Amino acid sequence: MIIEQLHETRDISDVDLKLLIETGQFDRELFRHADKVRKEYYETDVYIRGLIEFTNYCRNDCFYCGIRRNNHNLERYRLSQNEILSCCEIGYGLGYRTFVLQGGEDPFYTDELMNEIISEIREKYTDCAITLSIGEKSYESYEAFFKAGANRYLLRHETANPEHYAKLHPAGMSLENRKNSLRNLKKIGYQVGSGFMVGSPFQTTDCLIEDLRFLQELEPAMIGIGPFISHHETPFNRFKSGSLQLTLRMIGILRLMFPYALIPATTALGTADPQGREMGLRAGANVVMPNLSPVEVRKKYELYDNKICTGDEAAECRDCLSRRVSSAGYKIVTDVGNVRLLKEQHPQTKTVPETFNTR
Ligand code: 5AD
Ligand code: FES
Repeated sequence: MIIEQLHETRDISDVDLKLLIETGQFDRELFRHADKVRKEYYETDVYIRGLIEFTNYCRNDCFYCGIRRNNHNLERYRLSQNEILSCCEIGYGLGYRTFVLQGGEDPFYTDELMNEIISEIREKYTDCAITLSIGEKSYESYEAFFKAGANRYLLRHETANPEHYAKLHPAGMSLENRKNSLRNLKKIGYQVGSGFMVGSPFQTTDCLIEDLRFLQELEPAMIGIGPFISHHETPFNRFKSGSLQLTLRMIGILRLMFPYALIPATTALGTADPQGREMGLRAGANVVMPNLSPVEVRKKYELYDNKICTGDEAAECRDCLSRRVSSAGYKIVTDVGNVRLLKEQHPQTKTVPETFNTR
């Protein structure tokens, strides 16, 4: 009953959500419905994004993150403009039509430098989406990047509960700022991606419900979630990692609540279990984001312990990736990979250009 209601109305009460999140009894039915919905919107297509982790310097100190400022046991690196461009070139040849520039909050990359990098990619790859994932910036910076040619932005809210947020981040970072950044990004016209970690320290079921409620408000184009995985050089090194099954369950719930959404089967899922991403796809995910960074630096972008960085998940191994995705029953497509909407189910489609700018 619960699952059918969630499927049909895209919503259920907090009480029902709690039951769904806390027990595994609905999982089979949940995944069956989630897969049905994902196929209605996306058939068996899986979108790929080439992830370029261009700097592991970060001015922030999030308690969960391996590249936090206070990790002094990490060799830091930065990619030059040319190195970033050659990642794009390799990626384009492999069929990637979205480049994701992800990095720590690194002041070395001034707005000017970012604008240069973005403009050059934009000029060379007119048929590609440029996604940024470089944290909190001012409205003006976001606007400048957008004008330079970036059109998507990933910024997870991490947790929608302010007290929980304060337990995961040092003083000086706040959920309010994070929400403000997300609102600014939307206002400017970015396709916005947000998301949260599953099983992060101090997280409760109520936190997860708040995450879902916040996402209903934000209506992001993309929702990225993955299990928390502890990193030995962080204050959270003694906390146990988040559960794979709960992450899959949350993916299923997200697919039913946000049928149109781009939901990646994340690297953290693939790290939690060798088959994690395939399971993610079967639970409702429709995007994978393989690594396009130069092989030499991949190991250094270690957000959490044992992060997978070579082998099948690497962007250059398109065959292995295709095989993995088809083993789960889906197929990789060469496509910029925008949100798809079904007209009859989204009579508000008129407002879509504002909500999901697909320029
Ligand atoms: N475990 C899982 N995910 C993590 N991230 C950062 N540190 C960890 C960790 N220890 C995620 C955050 C961030 C994204 C880039 O990686 O959610 O937004
Ligand atoms: Fe870099 Fe969190 S440690 S943004």
